[in-house]
Amino acid sequence: MKLEDLDSQLEKNHLSGFWRTRVPSHSSEAPYLWKWEALLDGLLKASETIGIEQAERRAIRVVNPHLPTKSTSHTLQVTFSIVNPGEVARAHRHNMAAIRFVVQGKGAYTVVDGEKFYMEEGDLILTPNWTWHDHHNESHDPIIWLDGLDGPLIQSFNILFFEESKVAEQPITHQTGESLSRLGFARAPKKNESHERGVPFRYAWKDTHASLRAMGDHDCDAYDGDSAFQRQGIDPDTPPHQHGDLPRRPRSRPNPRRRRVSRLETGRHFRRADLAVARP
Ligand SMILES: [Fe+2]
Repeated sequence: MKLEDLDSQLEKNHLSGFWRTRVPSHSSEAPYLWKWEALLDGLLKASETIGIEQAERRAIRVVNPHLPTKSTSHTLQVTFSIVNPGEVARAHRHNMAAIRFVVQGKGAYTVVDGEKFYMEEGDLILTPNWTWHDHHNESHDPIIWLDGLDGPLIQSFNILFFEESKVAEQPITHQTGESLSRLGFARAPKKNESHERGVPFRYAWKDTHASLRAMGDHDCDAYDGDSAFQRQGIDPDTPPHQHGDLPRRPRSRPNPRRRRVSRLETGRHFRRADLAVARP
């Protein structure tokens, strides 16, 4: 029997000989840059065109043109969300974990697991998987933030779960700032078993910025770029002895690739909320 005939016979029965299969090699992410102007224009037009009640979230996905899936990277999905004054993005939960960076606006808040987290520009807010969350804007201006979710990773395992709340707004069950007082600077040594999924938390930009300003040149890696400062976000539910340090390269051996990325990060190519993916 000819090999071609065997292949044809198998194909008719939706079978495939392994001799026709090649193990796919690793493919790195192709770089791409999304400009803030186009993102903002799309968000503002969406906020005029689509009511918050029409969409679960008024968000625009960042789609990598080099990927067959409409995701930002193989494992991560980035979106930008906008909520107009007076609007509430109703409560839901999913087993995708989310981080939110506030890009523009202040005075709005997100409720995660019964606690309000106020949103100001530069804040980072953690929404662990399967925690209820709804977003409120009681300010006079739109609020815009970046969402980062591990959706493509979850979907690749076909285990994505989503639940819409029966009520638009979840009840407030914790005082505002409670997570910071419980997990921020002093805490009980006993680990809370309910924190296995992670905990909601807000890293306020005013505190992060003050910390960055307080860092001297001696605290920085000379090969991280001209003015790039890195500050490690510490998971509030990770014991201090597991925090670790930022990986640092020997000062005698600069890494050209690292410098190239750093130059991107120092503003020579980036502006405001431009977003880029780059090879690791
Ligand atoms: Fe969500």
